[in-house]
Amino acid sequence: MSVYNRELLDHFSNPRHAGRLPDADALGVYGDPSCGDQMWLYLKIEGERIVRVGFEVFGCPAAVATASAFCELVTGRTLDEGLEIGEGDVLDALAGLPDEKIHCSLLAVMAYREAMTDYILGGSAAQAARARAAAAEETTPK
Ligand code: FES
Repeated sequence: MSVYNRELLDHFSNPRHAGRLPDADALGVYGDPSCGDQMWLYLKIEGERIVRVGFEVFGCPAAVATASAFCELVTGRTLDEGLEIGEGDVLDALAGLPDEKIHCSLLAVMAYREAMTDYILGGSAAQAARARAAAAEETTPK
């Protein structure tokens, strides 16, 4: 029997908003690469509203599911409303997590804060990610 509930397994098996946004206006990266847990959160912003979200994550099933749930929660919100989404909201959306996995939900929440910092500072992290993706595309054999 799994330690994860049905809601979490659904988000893990069918993650919403998974993948890079090639036209993102902001990118937040949060985690600890030395232990392998890391998340990239891409935001497309129009006016003050988050119109599209994408994520990539290295982590456990809870990290994938919490990233998916966070992206559902933040899509369509204003930038300030997104800052109000906390770990508890992500846990509620997933109907809970095993105690030893609760810290995984912080990846998305903190990546959002990093993305907000990137946006306020002009989106240079998102621009650098676009440049890296374009360079990789040019060197990929067709
Ligand atoms: Fe490391 Fe969940 S992301 S234990």
